[in-house]
Amino acid sequence: MCGIIGIVALSSALKESLGMVLYRCLKNLEYRGYDSVGYAVIDNSGKLIVRKSKGKIDDVYTKLGFNKASGSIGIGHTRWATHGRPSDENAHPHTDCYGLIAVVHNGIIENFRELREWLESRGHVFKSETDTEVVPHLIEEFKKLGMDSYTAFKKAISVLRGTFAIIAIDIDAPDRIFFAKNTSPLVIGFGDKAMFIASDIPAFLDFTNRVLVLYDGEVGYITANQVFIESVEQSALDNTPPRTKPVSYDHRVRVIAWSREEASKGGYPHYMLKEIYEQPQALAQTIAGLREGVDEAIELLRKAEKVVFVAAGSSYHAAFIGRLAMINLGGVWSDAIVSSEARWYVSGLSDRDVVIAVSQSGETIDTLLAVREAKKVGARVIAISNVVDSAIPRESDVAIYTRAGPEISVAATKTFTTQIATLLYLSVRLGLVKRAIGEEEANTIIQDLTRIPKAVERVLERYGNAVKSLASKVFEKISSCYYLGRGLGLGVAMEGALKMKEIAYVHAEAYPAGESKHGPIALVEKGFPVIFVSLGEIDRELIESNIEEMKSRDAITIAITPKGFEFKSADHVIRVPRVHPYVLPIAAIVPLQLLAYYVAVNRGYDPDKPRNLAKTVTVV
Ligand code: AGP
Repeated sequence: MCGIIGIVALSSALKESLGMVLYRCLKNLEYRGYDSVGYAVIDNSGKLIVRKSKGKIDDVYTKLGFNKASGSIGIGHTRWATHGRPSDENAHPHTDCYGLIAVVHNGIIENFRELREWLESRGHVFKSETDTEVVPHLIEEFKKLGMDSYTAFKKAISVLRGTFAIIAIDIDAPDRIFFAKNTSPLVIGFGDKAMFIASDIPAFLDFTNRVLVLYDGEVGYITANQVFIESVEQSALDNTPPRTKPVSYDHRVRVIAWSREEASKGGYPHYMLKEIYEQPQALAQTIAGLREGVDEAIELLRKAEKVVFVAAGSSYHAAFIGRLAMINLGGVWSDAIVSSEARWYVSGLSDRDVVIAVSQSGETIDTLLAVREAKKVGARVIAISNVVDSAIPRESDVAIYTRAGPEISVAATKTFTTQIATLLYLSVRLGLVKRAIGEEEANTIIQDLTRIPKAVERVLERYGNAVKSLASKVFEKISSCYYLGRGLGLGVAMEGALKMKEIAYVHAEAYPAGESKHGPIALVEKGFPVIFVSLGEIDRELIESNIEEMKSRDAITIAITPKGFEFKSADHVIRVPRVHPYVLPIAAIVPLQLLAYYVAVNRGYDPDKPRNLAKTVTVV
């Protein structure tokens, strides 16, 4: 969940401003963690300079002297703490005993205790509580045992167990950055007289969009104009070099369509607001691009006995909605399981079933592990992701990509709505094949899907300001609220509550509206906000009664509902354009995204960097 970056530069402009280039790339990676930040460069005299500190990058910018750092090679890190609290000592880069080797890492080294004991018994002195620090000491130790820098790096990697993306520099190899990847993401960027390596493409998108995604088990190095990759086998703590095999990669280099503009704030105060407003375009691109992988996916789904979704967070909420579409439109029994819980269900799957893994990043470790478990029992896997070539699509039988563009804000918005559109499209196509729905209904849904970008635009135009004022009137002081819905509306309620929790730090709970009487209503008192999401004729009357129940306990009630539904009893009604009920969640979530955004901003929080969270969760 940390962000790492490495740069080897040949051009004198880049060399002179190396610190600033590292700063720009780290700013683009900040959404992956912001407990501490640091960098290391080999300066023009060949010395290793390391600067690091607890805190966010802009708060420690001067202290770390980004504007003064120069050199042809540098690595940087922005941290989401796992082992060791956020502190200056635990900030990356970590170094060996003599300060000649610097390492940054994303992931968890599971056997670090045993490695640390071994190293300490050989005289190494540790300065931090992190798992990462074993790596520079291992390199140092293997060099002492006679290996050159790169062999010592490979040997260090071969004794690690766990998940990692690691990059390292060593003053004895001052023209290259060593790298290794296992589970945590790592991507190489081919720049103009410079080479980049980072956790994620947006890190270096200001400099290049020619990329190479690294695979698990790969190690190697980059120079300013060359990449060398090989696969490495695990080995023992001894003095024999590990077994490796060269990897050819030319066919894997690709130019990605994301632009610099898409990955910048483009005049908006926050990425989140920009990404909310980008939804019409993201939806239009995604719907228009629904071709690749779709026929293969339908072929798998057609034969499936059960369809099981695995996903986390917002992606799980999209899956929750997708599951209802699969059952009621696709004509196949389906379930949605939070991916970290999947191991308890996998015994119920077989080679007759299909798993749909939904993950915008394609790297969420729990979802990746769920995919691996499902494959072990023979289930076929379809991935829905926004990041081409990321781990989950790569390990799945079929990949379908949403085309939302880069999503930088930690809170998912445009990837959520494009996931729903994709899952709905798949369900309708399947329903037609299985004759679970008629052509007329299928056509209505597909037509409404193509109208949804415009419908979302209307919601944004109409409610941008209204929701802002609701955020200050109703939510100024509250610390708790409910989001209630039924069926599809419950999926939207769950997502609305997650947005409110994660960026505004308001205790927001989503419940099935009917279930609210079985306990949650006990908390409701004067002024307690309850948000209802009612999307279909089927639940309208029931939700009206639930509103009445809450009103008679003096709650403040807010209803999100399509035009034409009255809901006279609610204190505030937000009406979204009337489209087919299965398309409605896409429009209905938008006011709730805006609500969470404005409540967070009113409270002085940065919605792009919610505390304790990271965009991509790569630790279990
Ligand atoms: C959503 O706002 C959160 N940032 C988080 O719940 C996220 O949806 C979850 O971590 C799953 O990520 P993924 O889609 O990249 O797998």
